[in-house]
Amino acid sequence: MTKTRIAVFVSGGGTNLQALLDAQASGKLHSGQIVLVVSSQPDAYALTRAERAGVPGVVCSRKELGGQEAFEAAILQVLERYGAEMIVLAGFMSILSKDFTDRFPERILNVHPALIPSFCGKGYYGLRVHEEALKRGVKVTGATVHFVNEIPDGGRIILQKPVMIEEGDTPRTLQRRVMEQAEWIILPQAAEMVAADIAERKEHAD
Ligand code: GAR
Repeated sequence: MTKTRIAVFVSGGGTNLQALLDAQASGKLHSGQIVLVVSSQPDAYALTRAERAGVPGVVCSRKELGGQEAFEAAILQVLERYGAEMIVLAGFMSILSKDFTDRFPERILNVHPALIPSFCGKGYYGLRVHEEALKRGVKVTGATVHFVNEIPDGGRIILQKPVMIEEGDTPRTLQRRVMEQAEWIILPQAAEMVAADIAERKEHAD
């Protein structure tokens, strides 16, 4: 079966990208191949991770490109150039328009650092999610991988994994535990599931 060509979108440290690259190297992610990394930030450490793994990295900055339309047009152009069939948002901090998400129905995945529908939607990203969870005093949080549509964190849920909050947690300790115990596990698993599904549908269409 031909592998599904995957583009991973990043904005920061890229530990989730690393989990995907490691899953590919160990064979856990075998139905897809990461062919491209797109970063919204020119100085994202994730780009160094991509380079180390021999995966091409491309910067598309909304600020430099002068607006949402030009930003998305630039992304579409690189996706086409690399023949990407599936997109994984791995700590990607830019919102994508309905115009964009409509082009890839159930082909864009996102990892969110909470159990949707808690602590999600507009304004809930990165450390902020964990700050809010601690403020609310929940005892269990976790991570969610879901499909991306025009509603922030609103697409169909693929996988979730709970993580316990511990006495004395700070947003940073909680963020780290949610990554280690949930995100880095379920993101590669969900990516494999979706990549396998796309590859299979492609084979039947041929
Ligand atoms: C991760 O915790 C990811 O779930 C979160 O940003 C972090 C990126 O870390 N994403 C969001 O909050 C999206 N709403 P990474 O760059 O090390 O993968």
